[in-house]
Amino acid sequence: MCGIIGYIGKDKASKILLNGLKRLEYRGYDSCGIGVVDNDKLIIKKNVGKVEEVAEREGFLDVDGCVGVGHTRWGTHGFITKENSHPHTDCKEEIAVVHNGIISNYKELKEELIKKGHKFKSETDTEVVPHLIEEELKKFEEINEENYIKAVKNAIKKLKGTYALVIINKNFPNLLIGARNESPLILGIKDDSYFLGSDITAFLDYTNTAIPLEDGDIVVIKKKDNGYDVVIENNGTPVKREVMEINWDISSAEKMGYPHFMLKEIMEQPEVLKVSAKISAEEIKELAKCIKDYDRIYFVAMGTSLHAAMVAEYLFAKLGKLVIACDASEFLNKGVVDKKTLVIGITQSGETYDTLKALRFAKSKGAKTGAIVNVLGSTATRETDITVMIGAGIEIAVCATKTYTSQLMILYRLFIEYGKLLGRDMSRYEKEIDKIPNYIKEVLDKKETIKKIANNLKVNNYIFISKGINLASAMEGALKFKEITYLHAEGMSGGMLKHGTISLIDENMDTVAIVPPRNSSVFSSILSNIEEVRARGGKVIAITPVEIEGAENILVPEVIEEISPIVYAPAFQLLAYYKAVELGRDVDKPRGLAKSVTVE
Ligand code: G6P
Repeated sequence: MCGIIGYIGKDKASKILLNGLKRLEYRGYDSCGIGVVDNDKLIIKKNVGKVEEVAEREGFLDVDGCVGVGHTRWGTHGFITKENSHPHTDCKEEIAVVHNGIISNYKELKEELIKKGHKFKSETDTEVVPHLIEEELKKFEEINEENYIKAVKNAIKKLKGTYALVIINKNFPNLLIGARNESPLILGIKDDSYFLGSDITAFLDYTNTAIPLEDGDIVVIKKKDNGYDVVIENNGTPVKREVMEINWDISSAEKMGYPHFMLKEIMEQPEVLKVSAKISAEEIKELAKCIKDYDRIYFVAMGTSLHAAMVAEYLFAKLGKLVIACDASEFLNKGVVDKKTLVIGITQSGETYDTLKALRFAKSKGAKTGAIVNVLGSTATRETDITVMIGAGIEIAVCATKTYTSQLMILYRLFIEYGKLLGRDMSRYEKEIDKIPNYIKEVLDKKETIKKIANNLKVNNYIFISKGINLASAMEGALKFKEITYLHAEGMSGGMLKHGTISLIDENMDTVAIVPPRNSSVFSSILSNIEEVRARGGKVIAITPVEIEGAENILVPEVIEEISPIVYAPAFQLLAYYKAVELGRDVDKPRGLAKSVTVE
């Protein structure tokens, strides 16, 4: 949700910022901009639109200079206009600021600043920051580097809310300053240059050495004749932060010949799942032990990750353990948490605001916390007691695909470890785990059939139904479908269908039925649901291991029921993908969405 980048070094900043913005675009894409100090002038180029077109139109690369900031926006305060896009500046247009997060006290600050004569150009919360710095700077008799840094720190002290900020000043082109509070900010380190980014993809083209900053950190990077001084302070005290080597391969941030990242990420699932079938063995064992030892277990998550959590609910129930999949944004309202509670966040990004808030709440109540995460160094990995990495690699498309199946793989392994701790024979699951990449390949091989079925979908409304553990598949199938096709889709249990929604079924409402394997106790009951739909004139598309008469069938391998959600996933992912492509949607960057939702 908004991507920010800062650069200081010896190279042309605009080129590096533009590249970083392209990498970060999945975090927000309604408008973007850069600010660079070029020969003692602060040059701002910004406008509404996607990074590539704005950069071309506004001439980002015409700007020289070796220090700058960049931003790609997902609007929270103020309409999507040029004025509201970042960077924002002070009255004298000397200071440029990019921001991710929400300054909650911006109205009060803005009023005070206006009274003092500041002129605002935008409706954003962010714009108070450069004006505040300008105001703080006025308090010093002498305007020098030292006092400017003090002014920035004093201004930051006045901010409430969430922020990752990167700040430059045309009068101090040797300084790049960053600050973080509850919004991610990572420092990237190369021999002769430094980067600040919302996540490491912002600068992974240049370095994989990084320091994730912590809440309350302010970093001042000062370029000198013979190198750099880098000081990280927290509450006025210098701190040392862990340097990490991030082993992500930047080539996975390229489309590699695929028309969209989403398709590439769907197609690479067999390979990715071989990694997630092996990664984090020790941490999974540790978490399984906690599941055994703690009384109350919650999985908290949002979006697709919540659907993975739903699968966990069913898996652990098989072993007699109650775990609760909870919408993280509701956890503070209904979570019952004490010292005997284990709260596990499932989050691809490790930065989802509501999931972090739920985990922090759990911690404050003395609970044990865990996180199942894709992004190394992300906030969730640093704030929880046990971190399990899923190993899916960079996922660029806003729609989560390979990270969903990787999360499921980790949950299967957690389930197996837990079963072993109970002394159960889990060998049949272990054998199946090894076969998952091949099962998925079989589904991916059906892509032409799925494309035809997708192109044959003519209505604007869809219900996705299933029963049992595949209720999560119905929910996730509907989410994938609606988020990229912009067609109405709802997921629900076959049981729920009869309690209201069935009245909508007619020739204008298609039903996608996720049919459990024949060994499932709910197999025949979903067949009855399909009949009920057909009897009301509704068309049925079945993702199914057996041919269903009267339905359009996407045949998937017959596997044991517990494993079926991961095997069925590529089928509904491809269905959504091909329908969205046919409708000409922006598949990788669907309107109004952001990959990482870092605000409440
Ligand atoms: C956003 C993304 C979804 C994702 C959800 C949770 O809504 O568009 O794809 O499932 O956030 O994100 P997380 O990073 O916590 O898994």
